[in-house]
Amino acid sequence: DHLHNELSKLLQTAPSGKAAVFEKEFSGFERLFQRFLLESGSAIQWEKIEPLPQNAVIPYDKLQKPEDPSTIAHMLSKLVVVKLNGGLGTSMGCTGPKSLIQVRNDLTFLDLTVEQIEQLNLKYGTDVPLVLMNSFNTEEDTAKVLHKYRGRKLRIVTFQQSRYPRIDRETLMPIAKTLSAHSLEPWYPPGHGDFYQAFSNCGLLDQFLGEGREYSFVSNIDNLGATVDLNILQLLLSQQSAGPDFVMEVTDKTRADVKGGTLIHYEQKLRLLEIAQVPKQHVDEFKSISKFKIFNTNNLWVKLSAIKELVSQNAMKLEVIVNHKALDNGANVIQLETACGDAVRNFSGALGINVPRRRFLPVKKTDDLLLIMSNLYSIQDGVLLVNPERNFPTVPLVKLGDNHFAKVREFLKRFGSIPNVLELDHLTVSGDVTFGKGVVLKGTVIIIANHGDRIDIPPGSLLENKIVSGNLRI
Ligand code: UTP
Repeated sequence: DHLHNELSKLLQTAPSGKAAVFEKEFSGFERLFQRFLLESGSAIQWEKIEPLPQNAVIPYDKLQKPEDPSTIAHMLSKLVVVKLNGGLGTSMGCTGPKSLIQVRNDLTFLDLTVEQIEQLNLKYGTDVPLVLMNSFNTEEDTAKVLHKYRGRKLRIVTFQQSRYPRIDRETLMPIAKTLSAHSLEPWYPPGHGDFYQAFSNCGLLDQFLGEGREYSFVSNIDNLGATVDLNILQLLLSQQSAGPDFVMEVTDKTRADVKGGTLIHYEQKLRLLEIAQVPKQHVDEFKSISKFKIFNTNNLWVKLSAIKELVSQNAMKLEVIVNHKALDNGANVIQLETACGDAVRNFSGALGINVPRRRFLPVKKTDDLLLIMSNLYSIQDGVLLVNPERNFPTVPLVKLGDNHFAKVREFLKRFGSIPNVLELDHLTVSGDVTFGKGVVLKGTVIIIANHGDRIDIPPGSLLENKIVSGNLRI
């Protein structure tokens, strides 16, 4: 009640015409807050985890490939592509929306996405809309660049996810005093799990249902592998209205991704298990590749009518992620978040599809950027394809030092050109290191400049299975 009163007071400060939007958002926040109070502690009981039933996860190569262009065009008329675009580029040292970082040939994540969907529409004569879920952090900057795409063969629609109040860790009350747009620190976008509610609140869900669209394909905008897959779409639509309500694309875990959320069977349903929910004594077991073999790519295919049913009944239950933060002014706050993959347990007809690794190509760090910019990939119609000249099925493992390479600008300054990595397995770089033009890296290469030292790899060098360090060259 106390929270409700505080929120009502805040509502009175809403700019004119905006009160109704904030009211909707606040009632979403109150429901989340209530679950936070009721469900504190991990909701997962380890002993109750069951092995995945057969057929719960279908191998991708079992899917059929649709061939007939008019069938494909019909299928595409049922689809909406949604990109999660609420996040900033802060972790790579950039200001503004992450989707506006240039990742390849001066093209940004958003440019590549636009190119992908436009080419798809041109190829099949369709009108698949691209929907961007912005947050209050990304809305304005995204809007500024959208005019670039006017005249392109695709409809871009945006909506803004909710803006929830950060709460004081002690009192559990909002720290905000006003809804003024100038004071943003007391507010946050509550994670991508907010998609379902926000998509419904803004009216787009009903609009697309009205157009006869049936499925949304939702993915992280920084996953360059999340292209529209016609085999999956066909699987969804081939059973008429009996197609699965929710499909999560999972992929085989390698030692590099032991922290990713996995699918489990729990209380007769599929469920996403994230590392944060795992009791300490089971963390190693969770990370093991043999017990939990797959992880969530966050490429999700969700039936629009099923979203509508769950949201309209307030029945979408997502685990509350409690994120503790210290603000610049020293205040200790909590922000309550949710993740969209966690919705899997709310849908009775949910399914996993074990997709090839190429559908999971996230760019989280400059380590990933190095590969994306390199000759490991080529680009066709906005889609990255692995260079056929690479002879191994795996991509190289790259670790660049945080101090000198973490920020995109710093990273770019350190390379005369991006090295040739076609035959690279593993690269570790640490310290003050620069690369000249035309460097070739093969096998395992480790370059370590000790504190106070600097290593410049000369232009045109070939480093094959080499360790280079401050005063030691092998
Ligand atoms: P993150 O960069 O936060 O995800 O956002 P992550 O590090 O892979 O970890 P998870 O998936 O959160 O566990 C993933 C995508 O979700 C968007 C980001 O813009 C990015 O595309 N996002 C995130 C939102 O749209 N809203 C949010 O509140 C948070």
